[in-house]
Amino acid sequence: MSQESTAFSDLNFDELVELANSGFPWHWEPTTVANREEKIAVASDPDGMLLDACRRQDAGEQGVIDPFWATTWRAAAGLDRYLDNVEISGKRVLEVGCGTGHVGFSAALRGARVTLTDGVTDPLLLVHLSTWPVRDQCEVKQLRFGVDQLRGEKFPIILGSDVTYLRQLWPELIQCLDDHLAPGGTVYLSDPFRIIANEFSDWIKRKPWQYTESSIELPDDNKHPIRIMQLSRSTAS
Ligand SMILES: C[S@@+](CC[C@H](N)C(=O)[O-])C[C@H]1O[C@@H](n2cnc3c(N)ncnc32)[C@H](O)[C@@H]1O
Repeated sequence: MSQESTAFSDLNFDELVELANSGFPWHWEPTTVANREEKIAVASDPDGMLLDACRRQDAGEQGVIDPFWATTWRAAAGLDRYLDNVEISGKRVLEVGCGTGHVGFSAALRGARVTLTDGVTDPLLLVHLSTWPVRDQCEVKQLRFGVDQLRGEKFPIILGSDVTYLRQLWPELIQCLDDHLAPGGTVYLSDPFRIIANEFSDWIKRKPWQYTESSIELPDDNKHPIRIMQLSRSTAS
């Protein structure tokens, strides 16, 4: 079962800010989301958090998870931009591995009803803050690939940016997509053309999924576009 972040869901905005202030350093980052200027709550020292996690792992501490959620990845901006092409308004959308929640926030600003999820709970408080303007359309939950299930919930659209970066995650990711994709639904994953994601695309083509790929340029660096991977279940599956 998934654990809803109920500890945060009942708090008002000032209480959320107070709680965030008592955790790690964070700030509001001006960010283009759904083609408008918004702000996203982000960790202020993602590199420091990663170094700290590495130090604790090296010291033998068990269960320390790399805080990859703390960085804002270009793949999220790419998938956000790609949503210009997707009929999303009024639809139920699941974001997996949401990190700072850029993509799910974009989907909500575009009129979708969005469940933003990550495997770790650390980013979820910041996601609550970022999505506060569209909170009536958003739910924020913990969802670990292949471990948790949102009971009985199926989504016609699932989004995930930069969630294909670890080979060992792929089977659990696909399990999660299979568990939550509605019949006839579509998954959109993005990545910055990592070599590992080339391998993912070869791997997924051997599974009962239909796969198509496109790319989208970003204004900050048009020489490094973002790949959009579109998946749907094969009709034979
Ligand atoms: C590279 S970050 C991308 C974050 C965000 N989607 C973005 O593009 O900015 C990968 C995300 O996947 C999440 N993640 C890693 N392993 C996971 C798992 N087993 N289940 C669910 N989420 C996971 C991480 O916590 C992190 O937020």
